[in-house]
Amino acid sequence: MRLAPETRTRKITNEAQQTTERFEYDASVTTRRPLVILGSGYTGLWIWRLAKQQTLPIYASSRRPDLHLTDVEPEARLRFDLAEPATWPALPPDVDLIWTFPATPLEQVQAFVGQYCNPSQRLVVLGSTSAYGTDSGHADGIAPWIDEASPINASLPRVQGEEYLRMHHGAIILRVAGIYGPQRNPLEWIRQGRVGPTDKFVNLIHVEDLAEISLRMLLEGVPGEVYNVSDGQPRTWRDICHEIQRRWNVTASSPEGEGQMGKRISTDKLRKRLQYAFRHADLYRALEELAPP
Ligand SMILES: NC(=O)c1ccc[n+]([C@@H]2O[C@H](COP(=O)([O-])OP(=O)(O)OC[C@H]3O[C@@H](n4cnc5c(N)ncnc54)[C@H](OP(=O)(O)O)[C@@H]3O)[C@@H](O)[C@H]2O)c1
Repeated sequence: MRLAPETRTRKITNEAQQTTERFEYDASVTTRRPLVILGSGYTGLWIWRLAKQQTLPIYASSRRPDLHLTDVEPEARLRFDLAEPATWPALPPDVDLIWTFPATPLEQVQAFVGQYCNPSQRLVVLGSTSAYGTDSGHADGIAPWIDEASPINASLPRVQGEEYLRMHHGAIILRVAGIYGPQRNPLEWIRQGRVGPTDKFVNLIHVEDLAEISLRMLLEGVPGEVYNVSDGQPRTWRDICHEIQRRWNVTASSPEGEGQMGKRISTDKLRKRLQYAFRHADLYRALEELAPP
């Protein structure tokens, strides 16, 4: 999974210089650092499980570690709350970070990284494809393809935080599609009427693939760059509902989202960067594994 340090440094130096002006990656640092998963909710705990297979020291943070980190051994639990600066020193120095909650508010984000981060650290931030705004549709009425160069909604607080981290600290921003997996099952969303058979496009990513990609991006992503993360197959809710009805006889009730086009998220950049074979490229096979209905 990890690149040889020499390879890593060369890639980072070449591409980062082309893409960011203000960020300076300290290319002399080639050692492998411990990892902190900042915010260990749904995705964070999946990353934790995968990262445990590595031999590095790995820590997981929570605002309520005793309650939320019971799967993590006590010595690896950190109490960290971005909103509470007194908790920041709990983080070990000079670690790599995967940040898994919205990077807001901006002032707090700036204060935290100003105090804690240094140029040698690697930082991956899980953002959202909602950064691209809503329904900037094409005249032909079909949802547009969105790549990393598409306009973002800079008025969104989380986008401001992510852009600050990207521009000033070389964060690798993953713009993540809808996350599903165990306990987050689209079949249940349909059964509960949260989504229905509309022509709105949706982009999904299984949490196991997201966790693996997040870890790999820590070393293989280019600092200061943005990557869309989804399974690469935009689908309409109508198609998903139809297939779920056919396979599991679950009927959608509400046509929520009628009139919205949604987006089709391009993952070309991610696929060029990572030689990664998705474990859950087939949504319906993944649903079969998730839910005996
Ligand atoms: N769910 C989706 O479909 C989706 C789609 C696109 C993007 N995303 C984004 O992807 C990321 C991961 O999603 P997820 O669903 O895995 O998130 P999640 O389950 O909400 O996990 C994030 C965890 O971060 C911790 N946290 C929240 N605010 C914090 C703060 N101010 N300081 C420190 N820790 C804080 C919370 O844990 P404690 O309560 O234990 O502290 C929370 O459980 C999020 O940024 C999310 O917005 C999600």
